Amino acid sequence: MERLLNTPAIAQGLRKVEARIRRLSGSSTLPGINAGAERIISAGGKRLRPAMTLATAIALGKQPDRRVITAAACVELIHAGSLVHDDLMDNATERRGTTTLNAELGDGKALVIGDFMLARAGLAAITAVSRPVAEVLAATVVELVEGQYLETTDLFDPHRTVESALRSVTGKTAALFRAGCLVAAVCAGASPEDRARMAAYGERFGLIFQVLDDLLDLTASSRELGKPAGNDLRQGVYSLPLLMAGEDVSELLGRNMTDDQVAEVLRRLRAGDMVHKTLDYCRGLAADALAALPVIHDSETAGILYALPTAYIEQVSQITLLATVN
Ligand code: IPE
Ligand code: IPE
Ligand code: MG
Ligand code: MG
Repeated sequence: MERLLNTPAIAQGLRKVEARIRRLSGSSTLPGINAGAERIISAGGKRLRPAMTLATAIALGKQPDRRVITAAACVELIHAGSLVHDDLMDNATERRGTTTLNAELGDGKALVIGDFMLARAGLAAITAVSRPVAEVLAATVVELVEGQYLETTDLFDPHRTVESALRSVTGKTAALFRAGCLVAAVCAGASPEDRARMAAYGERFGLIFQVLDDLLDLTASSRELGKPAGNDLRQGVYSLPLLMAGEDVSELLGRNMTDDQVAEVLRRLRAGDMVHKTLDYCRGLAADALAALPVIHDSETAGILYALPTAYIEQVSQITLLATVN
């Protein structure tokens, strides 16, 4: 999927975005904060959200200028800051192939470094992009926080509903994808209708992205994930794929599950209809995403935005279907 976004124009824009992210994340007066933020930024990541921001701007006829580049950098800075907080909440020890900030520096420092990244993105948006873009990003952080909060209130709840999980996922993940596309449309001076269309596309893509991340957590091997398989189950996150599965595993769920118990739940889910139901659900979202797209005159980026949702679903489908036959 990432290969699709690797056009010369997007790659060139991403290099500038990278430089902007580094400058912003290294701009504290306190070297310790800069070192912490630099750690998660330089650890890697796919840079999917800023790439989609750039693709959207180009699709709408706007070559990425300073404002678009800064807006894309802000989106990634918010994402990275939210990962720092997410790892802190999950007590995670590994992210992007390296030790998390909470494991490396302790919870207190990780908390404020994540805060710094979110706040710095807001400051850059208002001073170096525009008030409308800053408003979109600030409202998105509010939604992201609410989505993460909702997940905590549902932890270990065997009666968690699909609606509640969907609300959480929409806030914690889809909102930032939506924002990435929307700020690009705002910078491009798109019409209100085209802004709404790009926002809807981004939100649908973000939903697909999180639901498939949740599916992989239940189907991919620990080696493929770079973290223990079934981590969400252990943490008490009963995600949409699990909730949509016909297989009722609720009597096997709970706190302090043994490795054998986790393996049994994963075995049952993989043998049942979860994978197919989840992939079908995502294919429905992809159809909605494509239907939302506005008329795009740049044929190369139009092709990319059209292909992206399905390409990702099929990529994950390959991995999960392989896992279910093994
Ligand atoms: C991880 O997002 C968090 C989710 C929303 C599932 P990414 O998979 O985009 O993380 P990086 O940026 O590539 O590390
Ligand atoms: C994404 O959710 C976290 C945020 C959107 C902040 P996950 O908890 O599923 O992400 P991973 O699996 O830890 O990357
Ligand atoms: Mg997590
Ligand atoms: Mg996850």
